[in-house]
Amino acid sequence: MPTETVYGLAARIDVPQGIEAIFRIKERPFFDPLIIHVSSVQQAKTLTQSWPVAADVLAEAFWPGPLTLVLPKAKFVNPLITSGLETVGIRMPRHPSALKLINDEGVPLAAPSANKFGRTSPTTADHVRAEFGNLVPVIDGGPCEVGIESTVLRVHEGSGNPELTILRPGNIQTKDIEKAFQDRGMTVQWLEPSSAKESPGHLKHHYMPSVPVVYVKSRGLSKSDLEEKITQKLHELPDEVEGVKMVRPSGALRNMLVLKLSEDPSIAARELYSKLRELAGKSPDLILFYDEDRYREEVWTALLDRLTKAASVTV
Ligand code: TXA
Ligand code: MG
Repeated sequence: MPTETVYGLAARIDVPQGIEAIFRIKERPFFDPLIIHVSSVQQAKTLTQSWPVAADVLAEAFWPGPLTLVLPKAKFVNPLITSGLETVGIRMPRHPSALKLINDEGVPLAAPSANKFGRTSPTTADHVRAEFGNLVPVIDGGPCEVGIESTVLRVHEGSGNPELTILRPGNIQTKDIEKAFQDRGMTVQWLEPSSAKESPGHLKHHYMPSVPVVYVKSRGLSKSDLEEKITQKLHELPDEVEGVKMVRPSGALRNMLVLKLSEDPSIAARELYSKLRELAGKSPDLILFYDEDRYREEVWTALLDRLTKAASVTV
């Protein structure tokens, strides 16, 4: 199904075979929990054990939209969906086709991004077809408006000022969230993830296209020095990192293409995965992405998170 972020591979939460099929088709490890998509706040509440005031504020400010709330799960939610965690990730997508599908089914839908585990997320129906062929039907909702996955936010319990943890950066930033609470006279307290367990599926490498990406942070290197550095880093690269197969060049580094992002962070996000697929489709030996000072601003955080993970190596 299309969503405003990326296309999702959806199954009804009350059909275990469908949930199992998601993991099988994606080749996704069971430790990586799925986000449940709802079409109303009422429906979201049924999936949770408790619904803090902060969740109301966030849902009112950002739903439907690219924000996933992680809250204590209701007992009936299949542990396969939540990877056995005590919490569940929930969001209300903004794409009309996604909302219609959830309404038509009359039940929430679990949906990860519709790509093979570790690979680039799809932002068009064609991307999904390229990934899965005829294995799954696709609802064509056009190109995704946001283009990168939702912000994942852990909402801690408590009745005072909200305590929140960003588990995955996205289009909705900390400053947007702070503003939503400020408008209601509340101040956010940001907590760091307490352990890797709180954010499973947050691996070092993810979102990788079929051609290796090199994230270039070193400045002012000559072409030959850069190539030498890249070759050395690629040589040291293991076949697999945290269960994700690493993408390597097939031969010598002759043909290198450069990924250029729009100056506008919203457009850059919208185009990111399409551009990565397009460049990879030209079958270069490498895709280079050059770091820039402007990327230090918060609006670029989510994009850089994806690019750092999409890169096989950083030099
Ligand atoms: O924008 C999106 O979020 C897209 C569209 C389809 O909605 N979905 C998406 O799903 O990106 P996926 O499966 O590719 O990423 C979901 C991530 C997991 O890897 C995990 O990091 C986090 O969300 N997550 C889900 N449930 C969680 C939970 N209970 N606790 C902590 N993290 C959770
Ligand atoms: Mg994904």
